[in-house]
Amino acid sequence: MKATARAHTNIALIKYWGKRNESLILPANSNLSVTLDGFSTETTVHFQEDLKKDIFLLNEQNVEGNDLGKVAVFLDKVRALSGNEIYAQVQSVNHVPTAAGFASSASGLAALAAASAKAIGLSLDDTELSKLARQGSGSACRSIYGGFVEWQMGEREDGADSFAVQVADRSHWDIRIAAVVLSKTMKKVSSREGMRRTVETSPFYAGWLEQIPKDLQEIKQAIADKDFEKMGSIAEANCLRMHATTLGANPPFTYWQDTTMRVMQTVQSLREQGVPAFFTIDAGPNVKVLYLPEDEDKVKKRLHSIEGVDDIIISKPGNGISYL
Ligand code: ADP
Ligand code: DP6
Ligand code: CO
Repeated sequence: MKATARAHTNIALIKYWGKRNESLILPANSNLSVTLDGFSTETTVHFQEDLKKDIFLLNEQNVEGNDLGKVAVFLDKVRALSGNEIYAQVQSVNHVPTAAGFASSASGLAALAAASAKAIGLSLDDTELSKLARQGSGSACRSIYGGFVEWQMGEREDGADSFAVQVADRSHWDIRIAAVVLSKTMKKVSSREGMRRTVETSPFYAGWLEQIPKDLQEIKQAIADKDFEKMGSIAEANCLRMHATTLGANPPFTYWQDTTMRVMQTVQSLREQGVPAFFTIDAGPNVKVLYLPEDEDKVKKRLHSIEGVDDIIISKPGNGISYL
């Protein structure tokens, strides 16, 4: 009863920001991402009769408290699905900074979903696996698939129609995503807490939701047409609108730091010089820059020259779940 799975992180071009159901993790809006080949998680789940509780090791360190609790609650769902009340040892390695806005919860919970389902003997198709991963972390439902992926919010209150689908395979379009690493330190406000506070208190939240159907329809067309300027400008505007909602929350907050702003301004100035580059930012200070392969040297050089930038990690569109 042992299995190992690998999943990659993803970066949202149309953000998931807000839940309509907290316990089932149902989103308030449909959203869309690209799976990234540069960041991943590998997780081994071993169910064992002699264990009295679940054990969780992350990057070879024993984890207790809240993060163990989240893994155990997730495994409870897997146990309920299989009808087998047996505890597991979970060993996970993040090839991505944890809880820093690089979507470790996406690769982490997608890998956990795939490995635990296989280890306990469930044979789930990708749709069922996406629904399971969703209940661990919303963004994880998209990491089941490679390439360009849409999480369709669904309408049902039981979540049966809320899962991800692939919009285009990774081979459809060779774009590049540079993750500009400013800070590997953990964020103060988790994605979960940040979106909850925003939904409950920000008067800007209604405006955020209003624009989503249009953004989503247009970006899917841009991906189908390989229209880079259109895709990039929709993604950048959607990101700015999401981050604007946090400033309206009570208490107000932002994920941005001074270097975040410098990277954003550099991307805008690259565009003024004729290089099509666009940014997007998840719940953290680090910026992801979208550009085309032929502009790699120019983009890398400019990004490296920014004060406060630690590292730049380049991704292409990546693969979905695999078993090792
Ligand atoms: P991020 O930007 O990294 O996704 P979040 O606040 O959304 O930040 O999620 C971070 C949380 O995801 C961690 O505190 C932990 O609970 C969970 N997590 C991260 N990596 C893993 C993993 N490999 N296995 C299980 N859970 C993980
Ligand atoms: C800003 O999936 O990390 O990155 O569902 O509470 O685990 P939970 O949150 P999470 O939220 C991601 C938010 C985001 C946008 C996105 O990835 O779509
Ligand atoms: Co996350």
